[in-house]
Amino acid sequence: MTAVKYINNRLSIDKVSFQEIEKAFSTPCYIYSEVTILNNLNDYSSNLSSSDLVCYSVKSSNNLAILKLIASNGYGFDVVSKGELQKALYAKADPKKIVFSGVGKTEEDLSFAIKNKIKSINVESYSELKLINKLSKKFDEEVNIALRLNPEVSSKTHPFLDTGSKDTKFGLSEDELSCCMKLLENGDNINLKGLAFHIGSDIRDFSSYEKAIKVMLKKFNTISKIYPLEFLDVGGGLAIKYFDEDQTIKIKTFVEKVKQSIPDNINLVFEPGKSIIGNAGFLLTKITYKKNKDNPILIVDAGMNDHIRVPLYGAKHKILPAHKTNKTQKKISVVGPICESADYFDKNFKYDLDEGDLLVICSSGAYGFSMSSNYNARLKAPEVLVKNGKAKLIRARETFEDLIYKELDL
Ligand code: LLP
Repeated sequence: MTAVKYINNRLSIDKVSFQEIEKAFSTPCYIYSEVTILNNLNDYSSNLSSSDLVCYSVKSSNNLAILKLIASNGYGFDVVSKGELQKALYAKADPKKIVFSGVGKTEEDLSFAIKNKIKSINVESYSELKLINKLSKKFDEEVNIALRLNPEVSSKTHPFLDTGSKDTKFGLSEDELSCCMKLLENGDNINLKGLAFHIGSDIRDFSSYEKAIKVMLKKFNTISKIYPLEFLDVGGGLAIKYFDEDQTIKIKTFVEKVKQSIPDNINLVFEPGKSIIGNAGFLLTKITYKKNKDNPILIVDAGMNDHIRVPLYGAKHKILPAHKTNKTQKKISVVGPICESADYFDKNFKYDLDEGDLLVICSSGAYGFSMSSNYNARLKAPEVLVKNGKAKLIRARETFEDLIYKELDL
């Protein structure tokens, strides 16, 4: 399930112990397993044809070393801002393998995407398409687009992670779609190449995908009578196992099921984030204080500014002691140092540890560091990549200078 196991009682990631990592890089610290990232990508691509595309969703973790690793192995990217697009291009991504989603792309975002001739801008409103049309004329550039439809299918996940239901802001409604189709009749520089959908994140049940694919195929058949559509972009969203007992769909099974539901002549685009990097990443933290004998609380040096998934989505992440122990107790809380009651990682932790002990928060690779902030004027944690049994720093811990360099002392 994950890249970690106990070797001589020391929890290790691809044979490097978290104790060694703490000595070299201190805590809190994010650590990723290169081999796990590559295996997950391969689980997507190994059953796909060369005309299909796996576009890693940059928002899940956008460290340049990770983007470079993914680009150099021939994969594409799903981006949602000019910044993500710039980072992907800087990491030597092939623009012809980049798709750009997002409901609020600005003129600056779109101009940059058009000038870089990416594979597809995934349009989410009629107004956005009007702007693309205007810009394509201004720059005298042809633009390849896909229409991201709202399939009106709930993905049975946390409400904040559902993007396919009718009342969400994502994708084109029927009305918006028909306006777009009218505009396309006269949009000389715009090539409609595909349709796209993305129904949410942490999805454990294929039935939602099945329903959305049915809706999309109907539209695909109708629209491809007018425009020679090339691809269907099925988004991302596949859940990962946070605990061994979690019922999830394996990547390979998921790809097979998608392929079975879509005719062979339609090329596929996948946009996975969490299922690539979620289980490849870990947050290492140290216990600063222990208090309250009856209802023990372990206060650790990572906080919700480093990792916000637990308070934001009610997510549950497995937490393991870096040194194996059998000492257990009931209902220990693991909390961060931030001045918010929402700043906790677990209220049911069972290992009775001490001050100075290390904890590893598992399945933290996706939306961990990428959603971290400087709240409470805290420095962002470093990031480390483990490759061939060696741990390499890929982002240094922030410094006080990083905190203040944009501020003007008037
Ligand atoms: N494609 C689009 C258009 C998306 O909006 C997303 C994620 C993905 C692909 C990748 O989805 P994934 O495979 O990573 O589930 N912060 C939340 C997840 C938000 C997902 C936003 N969109 C979390 O920590 O669970």
